[in-house]
Amino acid sequence: MMSKFFALIPAAGSGSRMGNKLPKQYLSLAGKPLIYHSVRTLCHSSEITGVFVVLAPGDNEWLKYDWSEFYSKLVVFDCGGATRAMSILNGLKVASESSSIGDGDWVLVHDAARPCLSESLLNKLLNELADDEVGGLLAVPLADTLKRGGTDNRVEKTESRKDLWQAQTPQMFRFRLLVDALYRPGSITMTDDASAVEALGLHPKLVLSDVCNLKITYPQDLILAELILRAQQEESYGE
Ligand code: C5P
Repeated sequence: MMSKFFALIPAAGSGSRMGNKLPKQYLSLAGKPLIYHSVRTLCHSSEITGVFVVLAPGDNEWLKYDWSEFYSKLVVFDCGGATRAMSILNGLKVASESSSIGDGDWVLVHDAARPCLSESLLNKLLNELADDEVGGLLAVPLADTLKRGGTDNRVEKTESRKDLWQAQTPQMFRFRLLVDALYRPGSITMTDDASAVEALGLHPKLVLSDVCNLKITYPQDLILAELILRAQQEESYGE
């Protein structure tokens, strides 16, 4: 039987680095909450069967928006946990109880805070990994020189950037592998899913991405993301 593709968006974080009371996923970007853009790209993919969003229990922002255009694929759970990994693990558990997801199906975990994922990058990830033994992630080779800071922000050392990549999302693994990897106690504080899979001794594949798939972390990232979204829209209208 052919494996299906599902997407899961953990959206239970508070986004404290943005310095805003409103959780990051609801900050406004191009007239919509940040998370809308990820939901839209994933729901619009004809390859993806279902999209799960994991909210913090008691989230009272989600229902302020109209999500009805995505109802054929979108399922929302309010089972977010204390860390990103716990939110994902909780979401996967509920998904397995409430949907047809099977052990061999693929799960694409995508951060709510990465609104500029393009259809072409998503397709590239799906195509490059669909037959992979382990799975993998979108990533970009590090472009800047790396400094290790010491006392008083003085440079202690310049690190080699050879073979270093910046991990992005989606990160794509089979359901059973992802659950087993995240279930291990050490995984709970890991900041991405690939790390948990690596801890099992496996080697996820790095799929070449680009810097447009940026993560919103600081307020100025929103300005950049808006420009990228606009350029992507113009590109798709021009086709
Ligand atoms: O804070 P950071 O940008 O690393 O969060 C990455 C993703 O993990 C975001 O989509 C955020 O909402 C989610 N998250 C979560 N549960 C947490 C912490 C973060 O779903 N407890």
